[in-house]
Amino acid sequence: MLSVQSGLFRFLLLILITFAASISFMTEIKANNYSVFVSNGITREINQFFKVNKNKYSKIFILVDENTLKHCYPQLVANVPAFADAEIIEIESGEENKNIEVCVQIWSTLSEYSADRQSLFVNIGGGVIGDMGGFIASTFKRGIGFINIPTTLLSQVDASVGGKLGIDLNHLKNEIGVFNNPLAVFVDPAFLNTLEERQVVSGFAEMIKHALISDADYWKQIKKVDFSNLENLTKLIDTSIKIKNKVVLADPFEKNMRKTLNFGHTIGHAIETHFLEQENQAPLLHGEAIAVGMICEAYLSNKVSGLSGKELKEITTFILSVYKPVKIKENNYSRFLELMQHDKKNEKGKINFSLLSAIGKCKINAGATADLIKESLNYYSEQIKSK
Ligand SMILES: NC(=O)c1ccc[n+]([C@@H]2O[C@H](COP(=O)([O-])OP(=O)(O)OC[C@H]3O[C@@H](n4cnc5c(N)ncnc54)[C@H](O)[C@@H]3O)[C@@H](O)[C@H]2O)c1
Ligand SMILES: [Zn+2]
Repeated sequence: MLSVQSGLFRFLLLILITFAASISFMTEIKANNYSVFVSNGITREINQFFKVNKNKYSKIFILVDENTLKHCYPQLVANVPAFADAEIIEIESGEENKNIEVCVQIWSTLSEYSADRQSLFVNIGGGVIGDMGGFIASTFKRGIGFINIPTTLLSQVDASVGGKLGIDLNHLKNEIGVFNNPLAVFVDPAFLNTLEERQVVSGFAEMIKHALISDADYWKQIKKVDFSNLENLTKLIDTSIKIKNKVVLADPFEKNMRKTLNFGHTIGHAIETHFLEQENQAPLLHGEAIAVGMICEAYLSNKVSGLSGKELKEITTFILSVYKPVKIKENNYSRFLELMQHDKKNEKGKINFSLLSAIGKCKINAGATADLIKESLNYYSEQIKSK
């Protein structure tokens, strides 16, 4: 009898496990006064948001670019009844459109369509749409509510928490902006299926960074990444958002711990800006430059903050297995250093780094000499040569 019961029990357990596995993943991450929902099937959570906030909004405005209008909006509007009567505002894609002129056009459209304080603004797109749309909503009539539906990997894992909103001024990135939070953020990896692979891989650099600065177990999972099924990224995306959220909640205004998020970015930003300055060279995507920066800064970490040689090798090998090599010329080193002098983390003229003491541990306000920085760039070049 006992064996029949335990057999039945095992059978029921198996059904239960199979059923649980078939229910798609969903988590709610509590950010600063709002939630980030991560799900394979996000329209459920969006509809729930409108159910809870029934009849609250006088009008809904949706900001898209031509790519998210084509690839993301149709499946959202088909499944979210609240979007059926929304006004669609379409802008041209690209960082060059994240500027005040485009804001003026959108603010004017909002006025023309009688948007009021009870209107809701919905951003469907990558970081450009999220940063600028959030800024527009936060400033229109002193601020209307907005939600974000990030559709690139970078915007899902990086821009979904932290409250940084804004636009570029001339060529200065994010020069104008505010800190403000959306009412909710809805993340679904399914959107990534139509994103160019290069963009996916670029966004992944921030996830590598999250693992390196704070979670050695997460690093092990990151190393097993499989880009062939993007919906498998859900758990990794969820972990990344949780890591960034924890850091941001502990230090919202970047006084200390939040600086750890700059790992790879001091050198990476300089390389990114330098490539933008070259007319005869195609620009690097943000994550591609940060990948180079992380290898160089891992080298600095080995020299300055105690990262072991073994872990330096492990980081270098993994990053080079994901990213294409970037040619860096020695005669550009002085320009890189000049650009690093302008980094926002510097204090009293000293170039400040966030460096690793081990995989999963990061130290802020670490210094490195110009010679050592050049050495780290040489290290990168040697590594790509010997690959
Ligand atoms: N606020 C923050 O904390 C934060 C963090 C990181 C980056 N950012 C900002 O984000 C911006 C970069 O964001 P990004 O990398 O998402 O770039 P992006 O918004 O320019 O998007 C990249 C490209 O992908 C297209 N696209 C977006 N979603 C798509 C989809 N699902 N399918 C097909 N195409 C799609 C876009 O139209 C665009 O051409 C920068 O301006 C940066 O400053 C902000
Ligand atoms: Zn970054």
